[in-house]
Amino acid sequence: MKQLLIIAHAPSPNTRQLRDAAVRGASHPDLEQIHCTVKAPLEAGPNDVLACDAILLGTTENLGYMSGALKDFFDRSYYPVLEEKQGLPCALYIRAGHDGTGTQRAVESIVTGLSWRWIQPPLILRGQWQATFAGQVEELSMTLAFSVENGIV
Ligand SMILES: Cc1cc2nc3c(=O)[nH]c(=O)nc-3n(C[C@H](O)[C@H](O)[C@H](O)COP(=O)(O)O)c2cc1C
Repeated sequence: MKQLLIIAHAPSPNTRQLRDAAVRGASHPDLEQIHCTVKAPLEAGPNDVLACDAILLGTTENLGYMSGALKDFFDRSYYPVLEEKQGLPCALYIRAGHDGTGTQRAVESIVTGLSWRWIQPPLILRGQWQATFAGQVEELSMTLAFSVENGIV
């Protein structure tokens, strides 16, 4: 089995919907070789990253940056995983009230430092809540899972 790690900051009902959609996408019945684990950033650490084959990150944008919780995850995990996880397939969704670009830049810069590999550009879910947001996250998660299962990334 390949391990897909979802690290999702979900402080509101809407962001919990996004997290649940990410889990749904990675649990598609046609995926036979993917085991999915979901954790809040404050519960996740370097050992989770070392044990995974792909990672999906989800965060809100707060004050022009990723959530403090996701930043704390990176602060604790960056150096312990740096050597071993280069090339790790990754994806990101951002829930942002009105912007999201500060968060995108910040996570992209960390991911570049870690030499992880984007399977798709970051997904920004911006503005007023839309019913379609959850489906977009489900699709992103499914794409990551299928790519890893089929060895495309
Ligand atoms: C303290 C605080 C700071 C925020 N800063 C930003 C921001 O800089 N940019 C932005 O697009 N949204 C910002 N937001 C909005 C959040 O991104 C949004 O409320 C969050 O993603 C939850 O979305 P929801 O209301 O759909 O649950 C902020 C929200 C809070 C509470």
